[in-house]
Amino acid sequence: MTNLDIARLRADTPACEKLIHFNNAGSSLMPTPVYQAVLDHLALEQTIGGYDAEDKAEPALEDFYDAFAALLNCHRSEIAYVENATRAWDMAFYSLPLKEGDRILTVEAEYVSNFLAFLHQARRRGLEIDVAPCDSSGQVDLDAMERLIGPKTRLIAITHIPTQGGLVNPAEEIGKIARRHGITYLLDACQSVGQMPLDVQKIGCDLLSGTGRKFLRGPRGTGFLYVSKKIIDRLDPPFIDLHAATWTDARTFKLSPDARRFENWESYVAGRVGLRAAVRYALELGLEPIRARVTLLADRLRTDLAELPGVTVQDLGRVRSGIVTFTKDGEQPRDIQARLRAANIGVSVSSKSSAQLDFGRRGLSQVVRASVHYFNTEEETGTFCKVLGSRA
Ligand SMILES: Cc1ncc(COP(=O)(O)O)c(C=O)c1O
Repeated sequence: MTNLDIARLRADTPACEKLIHFNNAGSSLMPTPVYQAVLDHLALEQTIGGYDAEDKAEPALEDFYDAFAALLNCHRSEIAYVENATRAWDMAFYSLPLKEGDRILTVEAEYVSNFLAFLHQARRRGLEIDVAPCDSSGQVDLDAMERLIGPKTRLIAITHIPTQGGLVNPAEEIGKIARRHGITYLLDACQSVGQMPLDVQKIGCDLLSGTGRKFLRGPRGTGFLYVSKKIIDRLDPPFIDLHAATWTDARTFKLSPDARRFENWESYVAGRVGLRAAVRYALELGLEPIRARVTLLADRLRTDLAELPGVTVQDLGRVRSGIVTFTKDGEQPRDIQARLRAANIGVSVSSKSSAQLDFGRRGLSQVVRASVHYFNTEEETGTFCKVLGSRA
C-alpha cells in the first residue's frame, strides 16, 4: 500500500469528478496548484507586462533548477529548460561531436522522433545505427547490446519507457555498460519522469530529457534537459542565442559554461513557473510512493483486462510502468477510443508509424494505450473494464 492521500489528490484534480483520465502518458491533468501557478503568472503578465512579471517570478524561476536538481539528484547548473522533450533530446543529440562512420547503439522501442533524428544524421553525416534486440521478456537484451559495441560506438541512446508499451528498460544496467566502455549515454526519460524515482548518478547517464505535461503533470509546451557537467565542454549546441552564449568581442563568443547553453532567451515563462510547481508537487508526494501507487493500479488494470474475452494485454518487459496497452478482437483501437470517449474515459492509440521496429517485429499495427496515474482509483479501473467489455 502507499501513503498518498488519494482523496486530497483527487480534490486537487477537479476533472476526476467527471472524467476517467487514463491518458497520463499523453498529457496528464494539472493539479490545481500547478494550474494556479500558470494562471497567476499570466495574470501578472497581463497586469504589469511580461518583462516585469518575469522579474517578479525570479524566485520561482530560480527554484526551477533546484527543484529539478532534487528530482534527478544532480546540480542545478546541469539543468536546462527546453520547450518539450523532443527539442531537449535534439539539443543533446545534435550537439555531440559525431562524425562519419561513428556508431549509435539504440533499442527497438526507441522513440519515433529520436529514431528519425538517427536516420536524418545517418543520411547527412554518415553515422551508423545499431539496434540491440530484445530478450524473451521484451526488454533490451543486455548481453546482446554489449556485444554490439565496437571501436566506433560513440553513443548509447535509449528510451527508458517507450511511448507504445508498458515495459521499463533497465536504464541502470545500460548505464553500467556505457561506463565500462566509456561511451556517452543519452536517456529519453519522457515517460518515466514523474512516475518513478530517477537518479542520474545511479543510472549513470550523461544526458537525460523529459517533458512537463505527462507524468510530471506540468503544463503543455514545457520540457527539460539534464547535462552532466563531466561532458558539457564536449557539447556544441546546434544553435545558440544571446542567452546560450555571450558575444565577447566583435568576432568572438563564449558558450555558457553550463546547461544554459541549451536554453533560449525567449521562453514560456508561465510554463516554467508551472513546471517548477509540478516538480515541487511531485517531490512533496515522493516519487517512491508515486511509483508504488502507479504500479498497483497498472497491475490491477492488466489483470482485469486479461480476464475480458477477446482482450490481449500487449505489454512486454520484466518491469512494467503505468502504461497499459491492449488489443481487442473484432474492435479497432480507434473505435475503442471513440467508444470510451463517449463514456468520458480518456485513452490514446499507439500506431506502427510511431514504432516501426517494435510493432513490426510483433506484428502489431495499433494498440489502445491506457495510462494510469496515482490519482486514478481501482474503482476507475473497474469501470474501465466494464465499459470496455460491454460490447462483445
Ligand atoms: C518516450 C517519449 N519520448 C519523447 C516524447 C516527446 O515528447 P514531447 O512531445 O514533449 O516532445 C514522447 C512523447 O510522447 C515520448 O513518449
